[in-house]
Amino acid sequence: MKILIINGPNINLLGLREPDIYGHTTFKTLEDNLLTWGRNAGFEVELFQSNWEGAIVDRIQQAYFDDVDGLVINPAAYTHTSVAILDALKATDIPTVEVHISDVTQREAFRQQSYVSAVAVKRIVGHGIDGYREGIEFLKSFLNARQ
Ligand code: DQA
Repeated sequence: MKILIINGPNINLLGLREPDIYGHTTFKTLEDNLLTWGRNAGFEVELFQSNWEGAIVDRIQQAYFDDVDGLVINPAAYTHTSVAILDALKATDIPTVEVHISDVTQREAFRQQSYVSAVAVKRIVGHGIDGYREGIEFLKSFLNARQ
């Protein structure tokens, strides 16, 4: 089975970006861990990061044609604004886990809205980068149960 892990804008600056909120782990280390965690769960893993909303929409559409079985997505700031990403997820109907490094429920009012939550099979917030590992493992159980 194949999963795609998508990271949205500014996640590429992990390690350097507001470490008090997002921690000191670099983006490179995150990506290394994502590959390891995904492969340990028995998945073929693809990674994608973009700062561009349309590029993320394009990549979700491509995932459908590539027969991707599941998505883990941290849409970052687009979580709170992007109907386009929500519509791409609805259109492709690939089981999706939403991950946020920080606990967005305890932050600013504008972070309380999540469009992606409308379709996510699971939402993990505030567990740091370990939230991605939890998301991958959840997807594994979810997809196995569906088979
Ligand atoms: C984030 C939370 C978002 O509100 C923020 O815009 C991000 C990262 C997180 O992982 O905690 O860029 O998605």
